[in-house]
Amino acid sequence: MNTVLALETSCDESAAAVVCRRKDGSINVLAHRIASQVKEHERWGGVVPEVASRLHVELLPDLIAGALKDAALPWPAIDAVAATVTPGLTGALMVASVTGRTLAMLHGKPFLGVHHLEGHLSSVYLAEGTARPETPYLALLVSGGHTEIIRVSQGGSTTCLGKSHDDAAGEAFDKAARLLGLGYPGGPAIQAAARTGDPSRFHFPRGRVSRPSGGFYPYDFSFSGLKTAVLRQVQNLQISTERLPVEDLAASFEQAVVEVLVERSIKCARDNQLDELVMVGGVAANHELRRQMADQGRRFFITTHVAPLNFCTDNAAMVGSAALERLASGQCSSSWTLGVSARWPLERTSALYEMTPPF
Ligand code: KG4
Ligand code: ZN
Repeated sequence: MNTVLALETSCDESAAAVVCRRKDGSINVLAHRIASQVKEHERWGGVVPEVASRLHVELLPDLIAGALKDAALPWPAIDAVAATVTPGLTGALMVASVTGRTLAMLHGKPFLGVHHLEGHLSSVYLAEGTARPETPYLALLVSGGHTEIIRVSQGGSTTCLGKSHDDAAGEAFDKAARLLGLGYPGGPAIQAAARTGDPSRFHFPRGRVSRPSGGFYPYDFSFSGLKTAVLRQVQNLQISTERLPVEDLAASFEQAVVEVLVERSIKCARDNQLDELVMVGGVAANHELRRQMADQGRRFFITTHVAPLNFCTDNAAMVGSAALERLASGQCSSSWTLGVSARWPLERTSALYEMTPPF
């Protein structure tokens, strides 16, 4: 049980991959294909669920055929089929789920319904030539939909220790990019503009979340004030200058996000005596975030592990990686009855592998 065909269609990326576990336990990505729908959704200013589902239906079959061809493996060599089943856009999730379950039934293979965030967490195992993080460790999961600090314990069980109370970090990048007239997705556009900018020119807020009993939640985030601050700064500058200093604005914004992500993750790791820190999700592709997290990790003797650049944003190899972990402990889902769900808590991921699934 060590070769998996994995599918991902939870949002606006259609993807298929073939991954296998080597004898030394490391994961080999034999093939991965991805088709981004970004261009189709760009003109609407966000992902249109109906359009996303229809495009997944059009794109997925070719991606699967392509991945199997690249891996040069016939069906008998595939041990299991995996697909993301939660969280995400319901119609979009259904495409990979129904396709995956059908293929599994047709070829007599076990099926694994993967939690998208467990997929992101497992993307760190796709790094080549580096040691795997040892549980228990801390993970910073930063994507377009989630910003969470998670404790990963033995057997992969998770506990959320911190989270954003409003926008996710990636969402903040996307919104700020729109305000600055940069493209979508905002993260890469801001990163590119920030390269020649001065991060200390503008001071944007480092949002905190108040506790009802006083003080602040130490590991939680708030990014909505940051977006408003960027808007105000842009409006003020538009009155007094002809050309917006987009590079300085981008660099100052990027620094505000990176600083809170690094500071709170490192504090959480130290407070919980965890000396390994994992960083995954689309925003983990950010160069400054990777650099500053590694710097602060070294300073406090915390080993940092980051997902490979090409597997930070949504992909199917990470889904295969999560499935391989489950398969290793003898788990699989019900290909007949497991459905999809727009939401499901990461802490309750094991329920997806029970005889009677929760949805
Ligand atoms: O993980 P992902 O592909 O999708 C979700 O599951 O949400 O993350 C997408 C997010 C987008 O908000 C995008 O702007 C952000 O990741 N992102 C970045 C970078 N590359 C992608 N943010 C900052 N810097 C980057 N280099
Ligand atoms: Zn994602």
